Amino acid sequence: MKLSFSKRKSGGAAGQVDFSRLPRHIAIILDGNGRWAQRRGLPRTAGHKVGAETFRTIATYCRDIGIEYLTVYAFSTENWKRPKDEVDTIMGLLKRYLLEAIDTMERDNVRLRFMGDMSVLSDELKALVDRCNAISARLTGCQCNICINYGGRAEIVHAARDFAIDCGAGKVKPEDLTEELFEKYLYSAGIPSPELLIRPGGEQRLSNFLLWQCAYAEFYYTDVLWPDFSKEELHRAIAAYQHRDRRFGGIKK
Ligand code: IPE
Ligand code: IPE
Ligand code: MG
Repeated sequence: MKLSFSKRKSGGAAGQVDFSRLPRHIAIILDGNGRWAQRRGLPRTAGHKVGAETFRTIATYCRDIGIEYLTVYAFSTENWKRPKDEVDTIMGLLKRYLLEAIDTMERDNVRLRFMGDMSVLSDELKALVDRCNAISARLTGCQCNICINYGGRAEIVHAARDFAIDCGAGKVKPEDLTEELFEKYLYSAGIPSPELLIRPGGEQRLSNFLLWQCAYAEFYYTDVLWPDFSKEELHRAIAAYQHRDRRFGGIKK
């Protein structure tokens, strides 16, 4: 379903968004779940549960307004440092999400792609990821990339290793390597780079997210914690992006 937002009169930040000129690809660092819970005297895991709901709401909304790609950072290669009960809760939420997605993605026409090193996930989770990937292969709709056990540096090393393997096998030569060819070895192969990167939770850093792909992304930071992130906040981010002057190293036309 694609809504005709351009014809819609709306107040708030939506009124400042030009829905005919949306970014094709938005990336979001889902940060601030733990602090959201702690501020309410709740265990950090409660924040992850509400954060998962927020993700559903925002992903559905991105699909509705016609965003082609949404990439979210859900669990980093560094997040294994956290207490076991927190990691277990996040993996439990992932399982619940995957089971729901298997039932609904065809109806919703949402493609899911998982980016990161899946080899360390449990066999059960790996099987669910495989089922989601198989269903996604048949679909054409909005693509949601979920980064799990993802690190930008690990992704680049993984790509470099695969390229070296292909060199060893005689499929390519070192002198063939260009930026375009290297991109084919990244988890994000075939996906355009995000134009807009949103980080809720108040931090102003990448935390190892999409290091290669964000070379020219526009950053939008907000103090709003991810569980409180709303469509209105998304509108603010898109409106801010639409006012940026993107020069890509050139000069203003
Ligand atoms: C983001 O929220 C979710 C993950 C990193 C898995 P955090 O858990 O980092 O929340 P804060 O930053 O501690 O509030
Ligand atoms: C980044 O958030 C990772 C995810 C949101 C999945 P972190 O909370 O792990 O990042 P730092 O520790 O604040 O840099
Ligand atoms: Mg955090």
